[in-house]
Order: sequence, then structure tokens, then C-alpha cells
Amino acid sequence: MPSPLPEPWSDRLDIDRAHIWHPFTQMKDHEADPPIPVVGGDGCDLLLANGNRVLDGISSWWTCLHGHSHPKLMAALERQGAKLDHVIFAGFTHEPAVELVTRLRPKLPANLTRCFFSDNGSTAVEVALKMAFQAQLQKGQGQRTRFGALHMGYHGDTLGAVGVGELDNFMTDLFRPLLLRCERLVVPEDPRRELNPNLGGWEETLATARQRLRSFFETQGNELAAFIAEPLLQAAGGMRMWPPELLAELRAQCDLFGVYLILDEVMTGFGRTGSFFAHSQAGIKPDLLCLSKGLTGGTLPLSLTWATEEIYHCFWADYAEGKAFLHGHSYTANPLACAVACASLALFEEQPVMEQAARLGATMKSAWSRLAEHPAIRRPRIIGTVAAAQLVDPATGAPHPAESRFGWRLHRRALEEGLLIRPIGDCLYFMPPLSTPPARAKEAVDTITYLLK
Ligand SMILES: Cc1ncc(COP(=O)(O)O)c(C=O)c1O
Repeated sequence: MPSPLPEPWSDRLDIDRAHIWHPFTQMKDHEADPPIPVVGGDGCDLLLANGNRVLDGISSWWTCLHGHSHPKLMAALERQGAKLDHVIFAGFTHEPAVELVTRLRPKLPANLTRCFFSDNGSTAVEVALKMAFQAQLQKGQGQRTRFGALHMGYHGDTLGAVGVGELDNFMTDLFRPLLLRCERLVVPEDPRRELNPNLGGWEETLATARQRLRSFFETQGNELAAFIAEPLLQAAGGMRMWPPELLAELRAQCDLFGVYLILDEVMTGFGRTGSFFAHSQAGIKPDLLCLSKGLTGGTLPLSLTWATEEIYHCFWADYAEGKAFLHGHSYTANPLACAVACASLALFEEQPVMEQAARLGATMKSAWSRLAEHPAIRRPRIIGTVAAAQLVDPATGAPHPAESRFGWRLHRRALEEGLLIRPIGDCLYFMPPLSTPPARAKEAVDTITYLLK
């Protein structure tokens, strides 16, 4: 039985039910099972209104890096708030934006020199798509009106981003008539990320995938403005971990055919996959790089689209030529968000964040390998501090029927045991903040094991 809520929450939930439309939610579900009130954040935990403390095993939609309400991030917010809350960014600039690019530049591949600000991951992707198309157009490649993308990709919920995400699912299929023209490429999952890998035939699978990638470019390469991918980890598509060799091949083919490579590190950026950015594990550089989520340590909405000098110069002209990039949002480069992002990057300098994340990842790996023995688990896998597996019915070995809402029920039961997890369909995953003490992560995996029994 869920613990009871303190009195004011009964009225608040009535108001919530009457007026608030929650994201990614069939609102009818909330009639019987209202949203969970959260009243605080403390390190890797969320504090619920019913008094329970739960480990944030999904980093609050993959955003939180250093823990909730981190004192240094909150102090940066307060300091900046006392100086300047917000200002239009067209025709104006400010110290936190300049400091942010100064701090981030040395961590990026050297070819990414130009930074465009916006305020969420989907928009960072929209910006990259529009920039790629306009740059191609302005250098005489106006026939490049399509994009390439990976099957099972996810790049956000605005129409442009939906257009380059996976289409054959319930979230996006209905928007098909409204979307960009996009060609999709299938890449295999990488069995080397699995804890009990079966590597038989892997070399052949990789060779076939490489060949498929080359053929894709031979047939489509001259019509694509850009190819977009989540490097190494397709998160919302079901924590699909794909091989760095194919990312390197993708780079090579983009170069060969004059196609810009957009890497969407909205989720993989800032240490999640074991390196500061995932793409460095393939030894490549993108032409456009989208960042958000962990950029502010998970505190405020902010995103960046980094571009090369070559792309930037496609827009550089006398005003009358009409080549400028005419895109912007009211809260572009919000100073408060930029100041918190600087404080988050400063933490990476001041504290061994990446080393702690490596220790956390190692503990998660050994805990996950014990979970791997559970009959309700298939294909346990891990990259950095993102562990995933498929949930199956132990009696049949098959996925639970969608209508049983097994993942949703597991999520609700886990909350009662002090853990926030939120499977994506039959994909169970665990992605706590990088600062999570390894012992807490181990406990969380024990909780999952107990709940599956
Ligand atoms: C890889 C990737 N790109 C883009 C987005 C969209 O970001 P936002 O939700 O901030 O719009 C997400 C969100 O989960 C994502 O995982």
C-alpha cells in the first residue's frame, strides 16, 4: 500500500487533475493513479511528499549529474540572479554565455568553433537540422532536401526532431504526414556491451552492417543535407548500444558524400557513457553537435548546437544577401542557466567527477551481472553508467504483453521500495546521477532483483 500523503496534497492533486496535462502521459491513468508529489531533492535522492526517499535511478529524465539541488549549482544560480536574470540575446551578450563557451571549448573536438544557444534538446536538434540544410543550400547544394538517420533513433518531440526519429512506433507514426523527408539506416546492437555476450558471427554482422551503410550512402548520399545519430547509445529507442566502428564508418561516408554529420549528445554528453562525450570513443568529430540535459547538471533548461567554421562561413555575408541564420527563442542563452552550466563544468574541473563515475560504472557492472542471472532478465548490457536489460516473463522467456503494463507497475512498486526506475516498454534501465555512491547503486540493483522475484 502506498504511504498516505499529508493533507494539503489532497487539494493540490485535485487541482493537478483538473488543470495539468502531464508529458508523455495517458492522463486517464492518473484518475486512479495520480502523479507522485515530490517536495525535495537531496544528492542522488528525491524526497516524496509521503515522506519516502527514493534514489533517482533515471537521473530525472537523464539530466541530473552531480545530485539534486547541488549547493555549488544553487549558489551560482543565486549569484547570477542577483546580477542579471535574463536579457534578449539577439544583439546583446553577457558574461555567463561567454564563460560557458570558454569552459566548454577545450572539451570539444577542435573543429567545433561556433556555438548556437537554445533551451532544450529537441530545439538543439531543430537548429542543427536547419543549419545543415541552409548551409548546403547556400553553398549551391539545394538538391539536398532530405536527412539520414538511424532506425530506432530519438531526437525529441518537435516536428523536425520527430521527423528524424524512429517512425514506426506509437508516439510518432500518426505525425507521418507532417514530417521531414528522412531515410533510415539500420545498425546492429553491439554484443560486446552485453554482460554474457555471444560473439559468434559478430565479425560477419559488423561487416554486413558496414556494407549496408556504404550502400545507403551510394544510393542516398548525394541528396542528404545531413545524417543525424545518437552516438553509441540510442537511449529512448530502448538503450540500444551500437558499435563505434559503425560510427567511424558513418563519419567516413558523410565525408565522402559531402553530408554533414550531426551528433545528438543531448543524452550521452557529460560523462554518461564513460567518456566526456560518447563520440570520442569512435575517434571521430561531428560537423554539428547537440548538447542539453546534463549541460546544466540537470538544473535548468539550456541547450547548445556547436558547428564547424566551414558551416558558420556558409552564413557569413553582407546583410542584404539574406544568408543569416534566422532562428532564436525568447530564453535563448538565459544567463541563469548559463551560470549554472558554468558551475557544473567547474565541478568537473574541481572534483574527480569522471573518476567517480568510472567507479560507479564498475560497481553497476558487477551488480548488473548478478541481476543478469535472474530468469526475468535478458541481454543485460552496460555503457559507462547506463545499465539496461530486457524484461521477460520468466515462465515463457517472452516479453510481457504490452497491455499488462508490467514496466509501469514495476516503476510504481519500485517507488515504494525507495527507487525511481521507469522502464521503456520492456527495456529496464538504470541511470543514476554520476555522483551516486556506488553502495547506493548496488542497493538499487538488489531492490530490482527483489521486485522481479
Ligand atoms: C538523444 C536525445 N535527443 C534529444 C532529446 C530531446 O530533448 P528535450 O527533451 O530536452 O527536448 C532527447 C530527450 O530525451 C534525447 O534523448
